[in-house]
Amino acid sequence: MTMIRKYLIISAAFLVLFGCQDQAPTESVSSVDVVDAKWWKEGIIYQIYPRSFKDTDGDGVGDLRGVIEELDYIKSLGVTMVWMNPFFQSPNVDNGYDVSDYRAIQPEFGTMADFDEMLKGLHDRGIGFVLDVVVNHSSNQHEWFKQSRSSRDNPYRDYYHWWNADKGKPNYRYSLFDEKGDAWKYDSLSDAYYLHYFAQEQPDLNWENPKVRQEVYDIMKFWAEKGVDGFRLDAFQYVSKDTTFPLLPEGFEKDVIKYYGMGPNLHQYLREMYDEVLSQYDVFAVSEGVGSTFQDAHDLVDADRNELQLAYHFQGMDVGNSLNSYTLDEFRNVYTKWDSAFAEKGWLSIFLANHDVPRMVSKFGNDSPEFRAASSKMLNTFILSMRGTPYCYFGDELGMTNIYFKSIDQYQDIAAINGYKKAMSEGQDMDVYLETLSLLSRDNGRTPMQWNGSDHAGFTQGTPWLPVNENYTDINQEKEDKDPLSVLNFFRKMTRLRNENPVLVYGDYKLLAETHPTVYAYTRTLGDVQMLVLLNFSETNSKLQLPELESVAKIVINNYDDVLIGDDSIQLQPYQAVIFEIK
Ligand code: GLC
Repeated sequence: MTMIRKYLIISAAFLVLFGCQDQAPTESVSSVDVVDAKWWKEGIIYQIYPRSFKDTDGDGVGDLRGVIEELDYIKSLGVTMVWMNPFFQSPNVDNGYDVSDYRAIQPEFGTMADFDEMLKGLHDRGIGFVLDVVVNHSSNQHEWFKQSRSSRDNPYRDYYHWWNADKGKPNYRYSLFDEKGDAWKYDSLSDAYYLHYFAQEQPDLNWENPKVRQEVYDIMKFWAEKGVDGFRLDAFQYVSKDTTFPLLPEGFEKDVIKYYGMGPNLHQYLREMYDEVLSQYDVFAVSEGVGSTFQDAHDLVDADRNELQLAYHFQGMDVGNSLNSYTLDEFRNVYTKWDSAFAEKGWLSIFLANHDVPRMVSKFGNDSPEFRAASSKMLNTFILSMRGTPYCYFGDELGMTNIYFKSIDQYQDIAAINGYKKAMSEGQDMDVYLETLSLLSRDNGRTPMQWNGSDHAGFTQGTPWLPVNENYTDINQEKEDKDPLSVLNFFRKMTRLRNENPVLVYGDYKLLAETHPTVYAYTRTLGDVQMLVLLNFSETNSKLQLPELESVAKIVINNYDDVLIGDDSIQLQPYQAVIFEIK
């Protein structure tokens, strides 16, 4: 057989013949035997960073009315839930992750009436809402903290962790955002130190105090009564602490999760939260962080624990966190081992980006003009074809890219600014530091949404709080909406495929071609339905031999017009993503 005969070019016509991208659902949940089916497992979460989504009052900051204006757009994405980063009253030291009133809306985002209207608009469209609950710490401007610091015998004193200076200096604790890396801040008002794992304006709440826990449950009930459908618990693995603050081994800060995560009473508090709040409403809760081991993660989310329903681990995000790029092996191993650990029990999340990391395509794909669209589509295919509840970060449905700031004055993020000061005082190589920041900074993922080709990408009539990426004339929602081959329209096809095919939600995952240098290949199987997912993670053509290819029944999605396939082999084009149904 010659090469030409061996490889059949599956053209657009061929795809039509076999029923391709817009095919009807192949099965429904009721027709397959799914154990523990749940709506929040079947959902697709769209994460909105409200500061950067859409500004309607010209102050340069996104707002809730901006989300209201775009409800139909959100619906058109095929997502079923929205998680929104904090929009509560806040002095904004950490862009809302320093809350000064958990029941009030930050004026620059709008009013409670706007929130109610937005929530109703989402619910009217069958979309749920996930609230960000930031209760490892509050703002230092919260009334509780103002009271707490006022004197040693104030009734709110034990709402936070204080260490009286007469006992000497407390044992060192590392702070993730402090410019000196010191989590104890001395306060002369009561001659004591208070604890802050994050910035000094974010004092840690004392969860060992039952009154604090009750306050949190009341806040959660307030929002559950309003109708929110889920809670994302910020930095939650850190809440329980050994309040004797023992000496930790030298260098512990290199593995903060091990020493700060899964504190002594965490599970007791989660069961209490479950009894008080989660079990009382049709809601779910997802924890940011899962401790250090698979067992830690299982202990948080397994159904028989009656604690949380979902969690997300950081290991996927840790891949490629340096100037050196990552290898497909590292990437594939992380997702495969987490999937195996949760194959029988428990449920996790799948995501490649959020507001704390760079843009997905810039980190894991290729944001050059030549490959940006193909690699964005390929990565969206990955997120939406894996087991676990997928999280899609706003703008990634368009293939938005990093902004790559060069100078420290351009950054707004406290982590970048204080991290820079700390690196300077430690005498680090600042060129390397800035180069790394340019690639990995959180501001990369926070630039405003690119709606159209007009000034500031249609995000605001004013001056945006963070510059819009200059590539907005090329990459924007209006333009992509009109282009059937855009990243946006591919994303819609992919969400549709997941929504209509429970095999992509519940099916078993099996890794194939385990050591292939460039192609990530796996099957998802549910009952007698099987899909084969092939993802080329490279900018070159990649050939792959697989016995499964002999049983290909049809292509269900493809980010190129064609695919070169033989009896048991296939050649994928740069960043090609194809899903086949297998007979
Ligand atoms: C979480 C948030 C992050 C925030 C930090 C402190 O990691 O995702 O944005 O800065 O907690 O609240």
